[in-house]
Amino acid sequence: MAAFDPDKEIPRHIAIIMDGNGRWAKERDLPRREGHHAGAESVEIALETCGEIGVDYLTLYAFSSENWKRPEAEVKALMGLLAHFLKEKTPSLIENNIRLQVIGQIDKLPKSNQKSLQKSIEATDGNNGLTLVVALSYGSREEILEATRSLMEKAQSREMDPAELNVESFAAHLNTADFPDPDLLIRTSGEYRISNFLLWQISYAEIFITKTFWPDFRRQNLLDAVGEYQQRQRRFGGV
Ligand code: FPP
Repeated sequence: MAAFDPDKEIPRHIAIIMDGNGRWAKERDLPRREGHHAGAESVEIALETCGEIGVDYLTLYAFSSENWKRPEAEVKALMGLLAHFLKEKTPSLIENNIRLQVIGQIDKLPKSNQKSLQKSIEATDGNNGLTLVVALSYGSREEILEATRSLMEKAQSREMDPAELNVESFAAHLNTADFPDPDLLIRTSGEYRISNFLLWQISYAEIFITKTFWPDFRRQNLLDAVGEYQQRQRRFGGV
């Protein structure tokens, strides 16, 4: 494992698939929600560490469009955790110059979550340090379909000429239009899957998979991932 070097390139954007909360809890004979609860602590640590090393964007996969299929009690626990996080942590987001943003089908979330998200987004809007992007009710295929639908409507109304469609104009219709593509994608808990996360945006991301469950993911785990990233030679299809 290559050691993290603060003088080498720092990924501008890190995206994380926070996996393994359920298994972490199972190993301890705890209910799954306790795994998510412990995972919220790792979110804070990841935020602190990204701020410390100078990452500009951190995107966290907190709730996928498929996660609605989970038992109602677990969905409720996750929404409760989100509400708690926003209530408790918005002051420290403001204090630490962190800007909160969201991607996903936010209108599917409970109204109270939508309201508190809106409040925290507005309260942190003027911040220009790290941008925390939380993916909620997010699915990359759904996002790509929505972008395509919007482009087709623009073509139909002649607002846009199909000949103008290119990588940039397509990306401008995604939820992530305002953010650069991730440089580094981390997945915890040892699964080798992308799970409908940022399919378009990770085209050239470096992928780091660790067996560590998300609730055990600490500062050093993040530094190890960045250290490994710093060893990679990114060629973007060139030589
Ligand atoms: C995957 O583990 C994790 C999730 C579906 C939820 C992630 C959410 C948090 C860490 C909560 C805090 C987030 C914020 C932004 C406040 P899993 O349940 O799929 O684990 P398993 O594969 O071991 O069952």
